[in-house]
Parts: sequence; C-alpha cells; structure tokens
Amino acid sequence: MQIKRHSILVVGSGLAGMRAAVAARENGADVAVISICQPVRSHSVAAQGGINAPLGNHPESKDDSVERHAFDTVKGSDYLADQPAVIKMIELAKETIYELEHWGCPFSRFEDGRIGQRPFGGAGYPRTCFAADRTGHSILHVAWERSVKLGVPVYEDRLVVRLVVRDQKVKGLIVYNFKSGELEMWECDATIFAIGGAGQIYGATSNALNCTGFGMAVAYWGGVALKDMEFIQFHPTTLYGNNVLISEAARGEGGYLRNNKGERFMEKYAPEKMELAPRDIVSRSIYQEVLEGRGYGTKENGYVHLDLTHLPAEQILERLPQIRELALRFSGQDMIKDPIPVQPGFHYAMGGIHVDGNCASKEVEGFYACGEGACISVHGANRLGGNSLLGCAVFGKVSGLEAAKFVEGVSPSPDAKYAIFEEFVKEQEKHDFWFSGEGKNDPFQIMQEMRDTMKLKVFVYREEAPLAEALNKIRELKKRFKEGVYLKSKDRLYNRELEWVLALEGMLELSEAICLGALERKECRGSHWRLDNMGRDDDNFLKHTLVNYVDGEAKLSYLDVIITKWQPEERKY
Ligand code: FUM
Repeated sequence: MQIKRHSILVVGSGLAGMRAAVAARENGADVAVISICQPVRSHSVAAQGGINAPLGNHPESKDDSVERHAFDTVKGSDYLADQPAVIKMIELAKETIYELEHWGCPFSRFEDGRIGQRPFGGAGYPRTCFAADRTGHSILHVAWERSVKLGVPVYEDRLVVRLVVRDQKVKGLIVYNFKSGELEMWECDATIFAIGGAGQIYGATSNALNCTGFGMAVAYWGGVALKDMEFIQFHPTTLYGNNVLISEAARGEGGYLRNNKGERFMEKYAPEKMELAPRDIVSRSIYQEVLEGRGYGTKENGYVHLDLTHLPAEQILERLPQIRELALRFSGQDMIKDPIPVQPGFHYAMGGIHVDGNCASKEVEGFYACGEGACISVHGANRLGGNSLLGCAVFGKVSGLEAAKFVEGVSPSPDAKYAIFEEFVKEQEKHDFWFSGEGKNDPFQIMQEMRDTMKLKVFVYREEAPLAEALNKIRELKKRFKEGVYLKSKDRLYNRELEWVLALEGMLELSEAICLGALERKECRGSHWRLDNMGRDDDNFLKHTLVNYVDGEAKLSYLDVIITKWQPEERKY
C-alpha cells in the first residue's frame, strides 16, 4: 500500500483547521486537510452568538480597548489563562475581524454601516461582532471558500487514528478512510491538530455527534500532554430535551432567566451583570435554583425559563432567527410568545492538547494544535462567550504560519516510512480483532456507563468522594474496553459503529484525565466547583494541570501559569 505525503497535514476542517490551512498555503507550504466531514459541515457552523473584538462600534463601547478585553478574558478565566497568549489573541482581534469581513463574512451592521456588536457575558463593554445568530456558519464558509480559491486539498470522510512519532519528531499519521473501509498511511513533516471539542463524553451537550475529542487522545497517545482537562464549560442555556445551543446572544439581546416563581434569580448571584455574568456563574446559579426546588422538572434533570417575550418580535426575527426556529422545532415553544426551557449542558472544553502561544508542542517537534481541542491557555478555567471563534481564527492563522516556517527547514526523514508502516500494522491488528467478534464486551454499554458517570459525578458541582468513584469507574471501563469489545456490524465501508468504538477508546482516556485533574484540584476555580474545597487556592493551585500518557497510564503533573500583567484578585460580578 502506498504512503501519501504532504509537508503539512491539518487534522480537522472547522474554522481553526481551515484558517491554519489557508495560512500555511499562503506562506508557500504544501498543505492538505484531513477531515471526518466536508468542511462546512464541521461543528464551527454551530457557533451562534458571535466573535469578540474591541472595535468600539457599539455606542456603549467607545472606551473599549485591547487592554480591557484582555483583562476581562483573564478575569473570566479565574486567572488561569496565560497572559501573554491572551494579549496576543486580543492584539490580533481587530485585524482578524476586518480580514474576515474582506473575505466576505456577512456581519450584521449598525445603521451607519459599521459592524454590529452586542453585549456578551463577563465583558466590560459590548464587543461581540455577529452575523445574526449564525456567526460560526458565516465565518466558516468564507474560510473554506478561501481554501478552495488557494487549491488546498481536503481529504474527507477520514478519521486520524494515530500520530506517528519517532525520536520526539512527527513522522506521519494513520488514517481510517470511511469510504474505502481501509486504513491509510500518510507522511508529513508537521501536523496541525484542529480537532474540535469533546462534548460526546457527556452526551448532554451542545456539540455535534463528531465532537468526541478523539484527536486529543490521538495526540496524547503520541506523546503530547493534555492540559487543564478538568475545566469544562457547561453553557447555561442549552435547550431542555436535547441540549441544542440557545445562544448567549438571547441574553445579550435582553432575555431574562426566570425560576418557577417568575423571579429573575440572577439578581441574587450576580447583581451587577445579572444574566450576562460569565457562564460558569450563570450555570451554577441555574443549577442551584433547580436543586433548591425553584426550577422545573426533576432535581436530576431540571430546567429554568429563558424569557424573551418582552422583546419586540422584529428584534427576535432579525437577530435570533435560528434559535427561535430550533426552540420551535425541538420544544414546541415560540420564544416570541412563550418562555423556553433551558438547562446547563457541556459546551466547551477549556482544556485540551498542551501547546504554547505559537501553537507548538515542546514535547513533539513538528506538532501544532489550535481551536477548541488545543489548550493554548487563553481561556483558563472559564472561557468568555465570543472568545472561541476568535481563538480559532487567530490561532488557526498562527499555527499555519508557524508550521509553514518549521517545514521550510526540514527535509523528509528516511526512517519515516518504516515508522509509519509499523504503526499501521498495529492499528490494523486492533481493527481486525474488533471485527473478529472475539471481544466479549459491548462498546455501547461501556459508552453509556461512561456518560452516566461523567454526568452524575463530574458535572457543575463536584466533590471528593464522587470524583474518586468516577475515576475508579472510568478505569474499570477502560479495563473492560481493553479486555475486548466487539463490532456487530462487520461491513468495513462507512462503518459508523467502528467510528464510535475508535472514539470510545479516546473518550475513556479523556474522561480519566478529566476525573484525575478534578480530583486532585482541591479548590474552586472557574468552571471547576468543589463543594468540599470552597474558595480559590492560589498558593497551591494557580497552576495548569498536565496529564501525560506514560507506559499506558495517566501521569499527573503541574505547570506554572504565565502571569505578566494582572495579579489574581477576587472575582466578582
Ligand atoms: O452562546 C453562544 O452563542 C456561544 C458562543 C460561544 O461559545 O462563544
């Protein structure tokens, strides 16, 4: 079988991946994208509410600045973000928005023609630029169009299953091709992992079905650490029933959260910011209302109301058309006339593949990562809404540029093909075993137990004993998986069951890293809220958590946070 080759292989075709590919191509590199789906079906299309930049276009944001945006981001992160990386992202924010505009992104506008901005949570000024409530959709389309114009090849219907590394250098990738049902060997000098989120670990998520985080596990097995995995953003307003995203833009446009007494309960928890407090705080407030009996439904699966009925119908139709339709279809409520039911759900992984502010790994040469699956440490313990698309666009470009620079000085290594073939054989043997039916364990049973464990014991509120139980349970599930699972469907072409089994092996590793990080972090910081260790503990935990894969086991260590400008303060809203 042939080994295919490009100098740079980008893994993932969401906004970060496409932006990376465009930057690498524009800088002369031989770059291609490998993706599980067609680019405009990537999950970036589901980013609704907007992308932040201190443009100062909103009448109330004349005094906004890079410094103010950066400070809000650091405070929002509960001081866990690396400050130079945050400053870099925000210094590049304005030019990023204008570049996207010049590429054709149809941003919503103010009357005077300038790009519109709306208020979002945790921000000192309204600075979230938007295209109605389809911002990610609009931006991803222009990035993809750009890649088409530049002739960047995209290899679709493929899942990267192994990162081939020798002597701590990237050599290539092993890829499962759904269309042919075969494993493929790919050689490269550098790879950029832009692999997206991991919401499928919990199931109750705003993330698409292909957001399993599998690529994070592939990097981890290849020798790159996972960082800050315990920090998971539970978006306050996912639709009760299926957890589809109901954008923060609904609150940015003036929506209220109400409990079963009709009260705007955020008054108690964040009197100044109210519904526009950062997401970790709003999610905990909803959760608390439900636990204390002021929600709807059950305590285990309760919800509150998001009420927009006081807003003019035209405003909803113009600015929030997609979420109105989603709520209509999936909950039967028209938000113009009725409040809609919402609850916190897994939305975003603040942690991910450990890379530096240039998106590069220090552990594996030629390895880069960007987008949600990367942890560049700009979001820390809690991301602000609207900073995700910004991070994807900015660091997508940075990673493409850096990888292009790196490969200029590298010549293809003579030992690469042998290393790739070795890994190919190992992967093939694993797949053959799953297809053989010799495995005794049902992978979907394991997946259900993993999700139940994570939802029950590693959710908005956390405690020592349930976290320890969760870690043990995940380790038991890993053991059952390793003892052998079987595939019912024996067809090799488009075998979606195989895709889930592959993903499950990765999700179990990620779950272990989440549980381990959460158990050992004995403090409250951002989205990580320990009922048994109240308060933030800067003396002991102003640190990033790292988890490395060593001899098949998860090994925990810590890394200092980079603080250059703002010393940690109490976080009040
Ligand atoms: O609520 C939202 O529209 C999501 C935005 C984000 O996660 O940045």
